[in-house]
Amino acid sequence: MRKLSFFLLLLLTAAAAAVRGDDGAYIGVNIGTAMSSVPAPTQITALLRSQNIRHIRLYDADPAMLSALANTGIRVIISVPNDQLLGIGNSNATAAKWVARNVAAHFPMVNITAIAVGSEVLSTLPNAAPLIMPAMRYLQNALVAAALDRYIKISTPHSSSIILDSFPPSQAFFNRSLDPVLVPLLKFLQSTGAPLMLNVYPYYDYMRSNGVIPLDYALFRPLPPNKEAVDANTLLHYTNVFDAVVDAAYFAMAYLNVTNVPVMVTETGWPHKGDASAEPDANADNADTYNSNLIRHVMNVTGTPKHPGVAVPTYIYELYDEDTRPGTASEKYWGLFDMNGVPAYALHLTGSGVLLANDTTNQTFCVAREGADEKMLQAALDWACGPGKVDCSVLTQGQPCYDPDTVQDHATYAFNAYYHGMGMASGTCYFSGVAVITTTDPSHGPCVYGGKNGSALLNGTSMAPSSNSTTESGSRRGVGDVSSFVLTVAIALLLSVVLL
Ligand SMILES: *[C@@H]1O[C@H](CO)[C@@H](O)[C@H](O)[C@H]1NC(C)=O
Ligand SMILES: *[C@@H]1O[C@H](CO)[C@@H](O)[C@H](O)[C@H]1NC(C)=O
Ligand SMILES: *[C@@H]1O[C@H](CO)[C@@H](O)[C@H](O)[C@H]1NC(C)=O
Ligand SMILES: *[C@@H]1O[C@H](CO)[C@@H](O)[C@H](O)[C@H]1NC(C)=O
Ligand SMILES: *[C@@H]1O[C@H](CO)[C@@H](O)[C@H](O)[C@H]1NC(C)=O
Ligand SMILES: *[C@@H]1O[C@H](CO)[C@@H](O)[C@H](O)[C@H]1NC(C)=O
Ligand SMILES: *[C@@H]1O[C@H](CO)[C@@H](O)[C@H](O)[C@H]1NC(C)=O
Ligand SMILES: *[C@@H]1O[C@H](CO)[C@@H](O)[C@H](O)[C@H]1NC(C)=O
Ligand SMILES: *[C@@H]1O[C@H](CO)[C@@H](O)[C@H](O)[C@H]1NC(C)=O
Ligand SMILES: *[C@@H]1O[C@H](CO)[C@@H](O)[C@H](O)[C@H]1NC(C)=O
Repeated sequence: MRKLSFFLLLLLTAAAAAVRGDDGAYIGVNIGTAMSSVPAPTQITALLRSQNIRHIRLYDADPAMLSALANTGIRVIISVPNDQLLGIGNSNATAAKWVARNVAAHFPMVNITAIAVGSEVLSTLPNAAPLIMPAMRYLQNALVAAALDRYIKISTPHSSSIILDSFPPSQAFFNRSLDPVLVPLLKFLQSTGAPLMLNVYPYYDYMRSNGVIPLDYALFRPLPPNKEAVDANTLLHYTNVFDAVVDAAYFAMAYLNVTNVPVMVTETGWPHKGDASAEPDANADNADTYNSNLIRHVMNVTGTPKHPGVAVPTYIYELYDEDTRPGTASEKYWGLFDMNGVPAYALHLTGSGVLLANDTTNQTFCVAREGADEKMLQAALDWACGPGKVDCSVLTQGQPCYDPDTVQDHATYAFNAYYHGMGMASGTCYFSGVAVITTTDPSHGPCVYGGKNGSALLNGTSMAPSSNSTTESGSRRGVGDVSSFVLTVAIALLLSVVLL
């Protein structure tokens, strides 16, 4: 297990909500239970409380879990599992019983805010699609009869794969063969004030894009303006996949003349582990980057380019690793915690407010990204040791950080020194995308990264770069080349706009 210090950060105190004037912007967490040993409900609620998690989604309506959630103030989305759709969609009496047993018996002690009817039914169980609307209507009728419809909304989570041609977002539309369900569904959501529930997985979009979607774009890493994807129809600039998918949903609804249904992201996240060769980007650093940036993005109420400033309530997938989930190796590792409640990795949200958990250290490091292009690394190294004013003398022969004498190692030293020298300010561990933040201390042998040695920035003249792995010994490429790399990536990105 990696460093256990865990600094998850959320702005979910009552104070923060009050400042924002409403409860519109929040981060929730999904709780799946495909585990060989499911924590007791009281353990789960203890973890939620200690992490200040105020919104959750359950995949069922387990009575023991609901009892444990009573009087915690935690807001809960409960679910009708797919295998109960048949019964509920065929009988209003079954729907009424479901509401009596799973909703009315617990509300308001348990603050149930929504019922998610099925999960990705249209994409995973197309045969059950005709049951969705009857099930939702019967459940709604039962809520109305119990006078609970004011508090509890009914919707159904969709895979974003039902949106076709999702880039540019302005051209997105729902798979037309789903119109018989989606058209009445949107009318229902409109008339009941419920959100469109959407599962958004930039990880899979990135994995399936065969390199067309840059990792940075999926991870919300800051892109220079000239690298942003532009929707040619609207001229809106997209800086991340998440926003593009959410806007694609807005445009797809508008295509069906529906413009007043908000989007709620019921699932999103990034796996922290996976098959090393088939899923190299399923790792803790990327999971940290994605979820940390996601939380900042959502809590800042940045909105999307189409609807700036409009909150997108978002539920992270997921609280626990689910070790019995079938599928690829990464399927088991989407959790923020293992089943014992031990953090899977640290989230870093410096500068955005209240911690979800205790921020015990500020131990983050900036390292060369594994597999980064060596020429780009060299250029960035040269920049750090030159205009960046990092004291690179420890990288020269005979000095503590000379060995191993590789561009990767020397760049890691220089990137980290720059990052620490700049006070770990946001954006200072970027280097045209060849640097990443990690919680693993890259110190080795006599080369210690912490303290003064790790953050020495020179004043005035800069030292020569030290690695002899440059093409011409000692030659410095300097800033010009760094920008040309930026340009290359920018061109790739602009091209990708057409292909996504
Ligand atoms: C169920 O539907 C039948 C007719 O279709 C109706 O008579 C009955 O009142 C409904 N029951 C509930 C609980 O809504
Ligand atoms: C339940 O949640 C809703 C929506 O967040 C909130 O407005 C309401 O005050 C909560 N009720 C209780 C009893 O906490
Ligand atoms: C659209 O939905 C239908 C029915 O579920 C499915 O068979 C088809 O493959 C989908 N089309 C695309 C392009 O995903
Ligand atoms: C949307 O509105 C336009 C113009 O009022 C109309 O022509 C079109 O048929 C509508 N589409 C749908 C799906 O309702
Ligand atoms: C927060 O939002 C403001 C504008 O609303 C924006 O200028 C700022 O960059 C955002 N910060 C983050 C971390 O997204
Ligand atoms: C957080 O700090 C409090 C006291 O400051 C302590 O009781 C609690 O155990 C800590 N939680 C974690 C997850 O370290
Ligand atoms: C972590 O960093 C913040 C701001 O950079 C600082 O205020 C805080 O004291 C640091 N905490 C520790 C434990 O070093
Ligand atoms: C700093 O670097 C010097 C050599 O340049 C080394 O002797 C010393 O141990 C290092 N100190 C720390 C705290 O890493
Ligand atoms: C850095 O340079 C500035 C002016 O060039 C000077 O005022 C300052 O004292 C220098 N700092 C150090 C630590 O040498
Ligand atoms: C650096 O130079 C030394 C000897 O000059 C050589 O053994 C070593 O392989 C070189 N390192 C790289 C990365 O080229």
